[in-house]
Amino acid sequence: MASTDDFILEAKGLGKHYELRRLLQPVATVKAVDGVSFHVRRGKTLAIVGESGCGKSTLARLLMRIEAPSFGEMSFSGRDVSAIPAQEFRQSVQMIFQDPYSSLNPRKKARSIIAEPLVVNTNLSATERDARVLEILNKVGLRPEVADRYPHMFSGGQRQRIGIARALMLRPQILICDEPVSALDISIQAQVLNLLMDLQDEFGLSYVFISHDLAVVRHIADDVMVMYLGKVMEQGPREAIFANPQHPYTKMLLSSTPDIAEGLKGQAGTQSPPAGELPSPLNPPPGCPFQKRCSQALPTCSQTMPSLRLVQNRQVACHLDPPN
Ligand SMILES: Nc1ncnc2c1ncn2[C@@H]1O[C@H](COP(=O)(O)OP(=O)(O)O)[C@@H](O)[C@H]1O
Ligand SMILES: [Mg+2]
Repeated sequence: MASTDDFILEAKGLGKHYELRRLLQPVATVKAVDGVSFHVRRGKTLAIVGESGCGKSTLARLLMRIEAPSFGEMSFSGRDVSAIPAQEFRQSVQMIFQDPYSSLNPRKKARSIIAEPLVVNTNLSATERDARVLEILNKVGLRPEVADRYPHMFSGGQRQRIGIARALMLRPQILICDEPVSALDISIQAQVLNLLMDLQDEFGLSYVFISHDLAVVRHIADDVMVMYLGKVMEQGPREAIFANPQHPYTKMLLSSTPDIAEGLKGQAGTQSPPAGELPSPLNPPPGCPFQKRCSQALPTCSQTMPSLRLVQNRQVACHLDPPN
């Protein structure tokens, strides 16, 4: 059993609710993230999966401290994050976005985009910064001459490499990656995923890797957390989740990912094509949020939200016994 010392990032009951107002009066609450608990193991990758709107990006913003949680706790290397000064935290925790283009200043050359975190956070001289830029370009598989190009001169994959280079400049310990390959062609996706895995090995990095695509997650994850309407449905080691999914929602996601569905064929209870749509997080039904789309829902599913329990080496929030 891993001890908590092996956890670089831990969240306990973390949540973010947004009050929607009309004429300054609260009219509804969006429970974007609704009490999630997890840990990221040092040097490993936790993948967070779920359909669009389930709260992944909101969770990423909480982990980055871009937004404050409505409730819950977060710790980094065993320290409560609220006790860590913002600048120290910013050096240790960096982010990679889905669309690197929108996060790169179009009027700046790659050289100064990548060097920017050093200008803000260190006392390095211009010559020293430049040496670090060339070193990191090499690490992310770009030739030194690209330092003088502007963002529009790069392909999508190259731009994502620039985004990764910039995120690594302050030698962070953990990267929060929000759909980092979703905008790229399939062949380029594999290259960027392999780069991320090489960098993880070389620098001992930990990743939170957010994706709606289970084929991508299977490639990179050590641990997987499946979210639905702000809540955790199933979480555990990658092998357990992919070889033997327990939650009906995980099964639905897996069976709608073609090359994974193939391997699961014949498994008892495997549900095919994704049915229905994500309900509105504005008025979630009482009970399990997934009940309306679940072909095995029981009467109790519309009354109480199942709590997470340990089933075959992973946690599952489902009333079915056994879940499948
Ligand atoms: N600032 C906000 N104000 C109100 N609702 C928000 C805000 N940010 C996100 N949401 C809502 O929270 C839910 C989760 O959104 P998001 O975290 O972007 O999901 P995902 O990244 O999984 O697609 C959505 O219903 C979204 O509309
Ligand atoms: Mg998102």
